[in-house]
Amino acid sequence: MQPDVTTSVGDWRPDSWQQKPVTQQPAYGDPAALGAVLRQLSRLPPLVSSWEIEGLKRQLAAAVQGEMFLLQGGDCSESFDDCESSVIAAKLKILLQMSLVLVQGGRKRVIRVGRFAGQYAKPRSADVETKDGLTLPSYRGDMVNRSPFTEADRRPNPELLLRAYERSGLTINFIRALIDGGFADLHHPEYWELGFVHRSPLAAEYMRMVESIGHSLRFMETLTGGRVADMNRVDFFSSHEGLHLHYEQAQTRRVPRREGWYNLSTHFPWIGNRTRSLEGAHIEYFRGIANPVAVKIGGAVVPEEILALCERLNPRNEPGRLTLIHRFGAEKIEQHFPPIVEAVQRQGKRVLWCCDPMHGNTETTATGIKTRRFEKILDELEKAFRILAYSGAHLGGVHFELTGDDVTECLGGASGVTEADLAKAYRSQVDPRLNYEQALEMALLLARLMSRNGPEPRNAPTLTS
Ligand code: PEP
Ligand code: CO
Repeated sequence: MQPDVTTSVGDWRPDSWQQKPVTQQPAYGDPAALGAVLRQLSRLPPLVSSWEIEGLKRQLAAAVQGEMFLLQGGDCSESFDDCESSVIAAKLKILLQMSLVLVQGGRKRVIRVGRFAGQYAKPRSADVETKDGLTLPSYRGDMVNRSPFTEADRRPNPELLLRAYERSGLTINFIRALIDGGFADLHHPEYWELGFVHRSPLAAEYMRMVESIGHSLRFMETLTGGRVADMNRVDFFSSHEGLHLHYEQAQTRRVPRREGWYNLSTHFPWIGNRTRSLEGAHIEYFRGIANPVAVKIGGAVVPEEILALCERLNPRNEPGRLTLIHRFGAEKIEQHFPPIVEAVQRQGKRVLWCCDPMHGNTETTATGIKTRRFEKILDELEKAFRILAYSGAHLGGVHFELTGDDVTECLGGASGVTEADLAKAYRSQVDPRLNYEQALEMALLLARLMSRNGPEPRNAPTLTS
């Protein structure tokens, strides 16, 4: 494919990132094999369409106005082994249940975005890992290499890019089929029940919400004399960290009758906290694509950096184009976040603020297990609402690492996962996720925070969204 010289972003091209310093990319031993895979990838059909991408951008713009709320969640890293119907359906179920709770309790329409169908590449703090005197490349996600500590598994293999593309396609196809088939129909919330819901201490509160929605539906149907239109349809969008730039570039396309270039591997790619360097390759790639994009921000980032990011990624100050996903941690948010919000507000930059209360709250237990505490996650969310409201802004979304499965990776919550429980069902290869019950409880508590803190939406929320 020949790149077109007339893009709306000047000298940008899908491959112009290659002229910039790049980090967190795998070192492939055979560039010719990589090239052959990328040529195949760039001919394969896209996974999403520009209509959907533009639809999501409009919804994110509504969230910037305070009319909608973004719920983004899923695994830290998807695994090829988990590309199976029960795991995908469970992820969809928990996100649907959480969104229902947020619509009902938070009184906002919800934008549902999964960290799925492409979340296969991970940034790592070190390029290599040493065990018992053997040094091998770090595991960088199933798109790059495999996690077992053997030379063969850890060698980056470009063929895995094709496997990742295929599994992303299989995942998104199954999700679309479920949604189109009526899985998300509000008349049938029992479709989304997970086996253990009735054992949960939260079951009663959740069931009350479901019942109340059922009553409202029946009321509307009596009033209108038919089934309420569109109650069986919800939108679901995909997102992943746009880390592996060769993979992203291969899926970057022109589409008929629209300006610009779209990354058609996902609706909503984000830049990770480690790769957001202003002069780096990731910012260069992201500035030229037409998708809504997000950037994770954390650590000791300063307001000037954020303003420069806004300028670079959203020069036209278009609402919905840029989401800032802040992840400072419950302990640090009060120190680092307020000056950033103040500066962005003062300059009138139209961004969506989305809190990731997971990545700043990771800790390691005495026995060396990576975990996160439920109460710290909640604490950071509560502080984010407060800090933003104080500056006249508002929290427009949340970003969680979670799963629909009954894992024990994060501590606390109503069911009281303890340090001793962590060993029972710890399945994540990377970061610890909220399990089904913890995620649902988090949604119930978040809905309370939303109804206490949120600005009144300009339009009344509807049940479908
Ligand atoms: C992640 O989302 O899994 C991640 C690595 O996050 P961050 O870039 O915020 O560290
Ligand atoms: Co993570």
